[in-house]
Amino acid sequence: MAVLQMVLLLCVGISFAKDSCSTNVNIYAELEKLKNMDERIEKLEGTLDKVLSENVALKTTVQDSQNKLKSLQMENEAKKVAFSAGLLESGSGNTGPINTQKTLVYKKVFSNIGGAYDSNTGIFTAPRKGAYYFRFYGHCHGGTTMAVTLLKNGKTQCSLHSWKPASNSNASNGVVLTLETGDQISTQLWANTWVYDDPASYTSFGGFLLFPM
Ligand SMILES: *[C@@H]1O[C@H](CO)[C@@H](O)[C@H](O)[C@H]1NC(C)=O
Repeated sequence: MAVLQMVLLLCVGISFAKDSCSTNVNIYAELEKLKNMDERIEKLEGTLDKVLSENVALKTTVQDSQNKLKSLQMENEAKKVAFSAGLLESGSGNTGPINTQKTLVYKKVFSNIGGAYDSNTGIFTAPRKGAYYFRFYGHCHGGTTMAVTLLKNGKTQCSLHSWKPASNSNASNGVVLTLETGDQISTQLWANTWVYDDPASYTSFGGFLLFPM
């Protein structure tokens, strides 16, 4: 409205001074135009305010979506847990017998997606809560006794056993376990028993996350 008033005053001033403003220009028509323009500007300002606030809302929505996408991607990555390993990295021979139960450390890592299996200790540590599947295989030569147990946090879950086979023996067992984050799974060779392995990886250990919980 300030512009309108100024033009009005100016034109009135000029018309008094020279009496030329009204002769050349139709002040009323011009004023009407200015009034219309002013109304349109007001409307545009209203629209602009609306658009600007909508833009702020959109920015928030986009940011929320990006955050959600990122956490979904991270969650999806964390779901990828699977490992498989053979006992001996190379060569062939017996492991055991020794006079105490001992954790088997599987050295030939076929896969370790998610890095939950530690090939220095033979221990799998659950990176998240979920249902997991584990399986272990053992091979032994004739005349030896083989016994391997799968343990969760040091407690026996399931075992395999073969007592002095004539030529050789294969045995396996597997289990589905509900694990909490940090639960530890390992296999142990019983005291005074043997397992045999060679490049064919008859003796092995593996597991994977079935689904998170
Ligand atoms: C154990 O598995 C190996 C490899 O497949 C095989 O050669 C052997 O005959 C099996 N032993 C027995 C007793 O079935």
